[in-house]
Amino acid sequence: MTKQHTMIELHHIIKRFYIGQPNELEILHGIDLKVNKGEFVSIVGSSGSGKTTMMNIIGILDRPTEGEYMLDGVDVAGAKDKELSMIRNQKIGFVFQTYNLISRTSALKNVELPMLYAGVGKKERTERAKELLAMVGMEERMTHNPDELSGGQKQRVAIARAMANDPSIILADVN
Ligand SMILES: Nc1ncnc2c1ncn2[C@@H]1O[C@H](COP(=O)(O)OP(=O)(O)OP(=O)(O)O)[C@@H](O)[C@H]1O
Ligand SMILES: [Mg+2]
Repeated sequence: MTKQHTMIELHHIIKRFYIGQPNELEILHGIDLKVNKGEFVSIVGSSGSGKTTMMNIIGILDRPTEGEYMLDGVDVAGAKDKELSMIRNQKIGFVFQTYNLISRTSALKNVELPMLYAGVGKKERTERAKELLAMVGMEERMTHNPDELSGGQKQRVAIARAMANDPSIILADVN
């Protein structure tokens, strides 16, 4: 049997907002989660229960108030910002609940952007972005800006963008 490779490990993650204020709010009450390489995990919960809050922590877009987070062997709390942005760019593909596509920028350029940050050359990133957009059935709308796309089309562009740098983790915050 091959050894299991842990990709995501949360230990007792707590997230509070408005800390120290009368309206202090605890959203995550001590989450433990372990996800191994190759696993497909769905997180289900009612609206407002804290799914996006938790995904933002897993995607290193936000920090927990308390608890430990190991991402592919890296202690996120102890890592430098530069290392974290590299991890985000190379290892994590994030499909935002509201897509967060860059406005006034074509679908093609949106998908190219993570590759631009990763230093992929123009020709290669355009080619790959086109392939990814074709894969999600968006070849006919590649030159359209987000505000000229339907909700589902925007979501498909967001999925293609999340896959741009062939990440080892895809976090999809979808309803
Ligand atoms: N930055 C913030 N400041 C204060 N409260 C917040 C903040 N972000 C989220 N919350 C609150 O935390 C709770 C959980 O929000 P979250 O977006 O994580 O829910 P969700 O499970 O993703 O819901 P949905 O299914 O509707 O997307 C909500 O009550 C929300 O109002
Ligand atoms: Mg949400």
